[in-house]
Amino acid sequence: LDNGLMRIPPMGWLAWERFRCNTDCENDPKNCISEALFRDMADRLAEDGWRELGYVYVNIDDCWASKNRDAQGRLQPDPKRHYFDNDMPTSSSVSLTCLVVVKGFPSGIAKLARYVHDRGLKLGIYGDLGTYTCGGYPGTTLDKIETDAQTFAEWEVDMLKLDGCYSNSTDQEQGYPLMSRALNATGRPIGYSCSWPAYQGGLPPKINYTLLGEICNLWRNYGDIEDSWDSILSIVDWFTENQEILQPAAGPGRWNDPDMLVIGNFGLSMDQSRSQMALWAIMAAPLFMSNDLRTLNSGARAILQNKAVIAINQDPLGIQGKRLIKENNDIEVFWRPLSNKASALVFFSRRTDMPFRYLTSLKALNYTAGSYMVYDVFMEKPMPTLKDTTQFVVSINPSGVVMWFVCGVLCSTSCLPCVPLHN
Ligand code: GLA
Repeated sequence: LDNGLMRIPPMGWLAWERFRCNTDCENDPKNCISEALFRDMADRLAEDGWRELGYVYVNIDDCWASKNRDAQGRLQPDPKRHYFDNDMPTSSSVSLTCLVVVKGFPSGIAKLARYVHDRGLKLGIYGDLGTYTCGGYPGTTLDKIETDAQTFAEWEVDMLKLDGCYSNSTDQEQGYPLMSRALNATGRPIGYSCSWPAYQGGLPPKINYTLLGEICNLWRNYGDIEDSWDSILSIVDWFTENQEILQPAAGPGRWNDPDMLVIGNFGLSMDQSRSQMALWAIMAAPLFMSNDLRTLNSGARAILQNKAVIAINQDPLGIQGKRLIKENNDIEVFWRPLSNKASALVFFSRRTDMPFRYLTSLKALNYTAGSYMVYDVFMEKPMPTLKDTTQFVVSINPSGVVMWFVCGVLCSTSCLPCVPLHN
């Protein structure tokens, strides 16, 4: 979508995979969907080095709303959900541990948006084109599209994920373009994420990727990610099997979205976490983490904050990468062209036995311009200059990757990818 937004894949944090529809603020105040959760994540993004790397969106997903619209027919945050918070700042010297009862979103979304903006971040919200959201909260039917676009703009929201539960293909064909126009009409720049293709099989002729690129900044093509390696593999399989269709659809302002990063949760090993990060970077995917930034371990943090992999994901040319080679021995090679004649390579092992020594040459990977400089993304170090005809071996761990940033022939002294630093 040519609204000036998301010229490189958006990055940030999204509640769904990790926090789902946990509305039990009475018993689980730290993890329920309430404004406290989003304030906590905004604090972490701003204070723990994420924002500077580009992770700027704090995105609300389902289950934030009240079960009823207000008297004017507008969506409103849940006014009944309570949580107990004994970390509230207090000016009195009372030493009792008080349980301060506050509501799920007591201050409203506009106030939360201000909190997020004050920290140099952006706020995203969730809606659903249909009678209900997937979690059973009020949906946005065709007659409510303008009202809801207006409401989000008044709250100063920066991004909308529009899901597609409880609508049919005719509603979706009308509704997704209508919301695009309604958001534009508000005059506020609002990034627009469409789940439309995910509800229609993600492939032509049902899905018209040219049209999607004109009306949405990003779109979910496929099923929901879960916290498991199986889930990552099924997503990678689907995106690579259909890469001839999907790869040309992506570009600045319009991105395929294979769903959230689940790195830092419970289901992936360190190697599998590096694999998700590397493959999402090759795919030019939006990087929305869904994890608990308050308790993230240092291994996961290092992967998510790796500057070279972020630079590859955020390359300004915005060309999505592809799988180049699928070997019979369960080794695959992915490639993405980058600006300044650079490129990225991912050597990926689907094996389950032991580190595999993969023998190849740059020439076998379509590199023909002589000598190249290479930077190993996860070892975080430059490699010796490599001639295109020279055979080399990479040792790839089971369900792991080796990722290279390969410099253009013109680069002279050092081969280091540059991350644009924000703020
Ligand atoms: C769908 C979406 C998910 C999430 C849930 C919320 O399943 O694909 O990403 O938004 O709905 O209910």
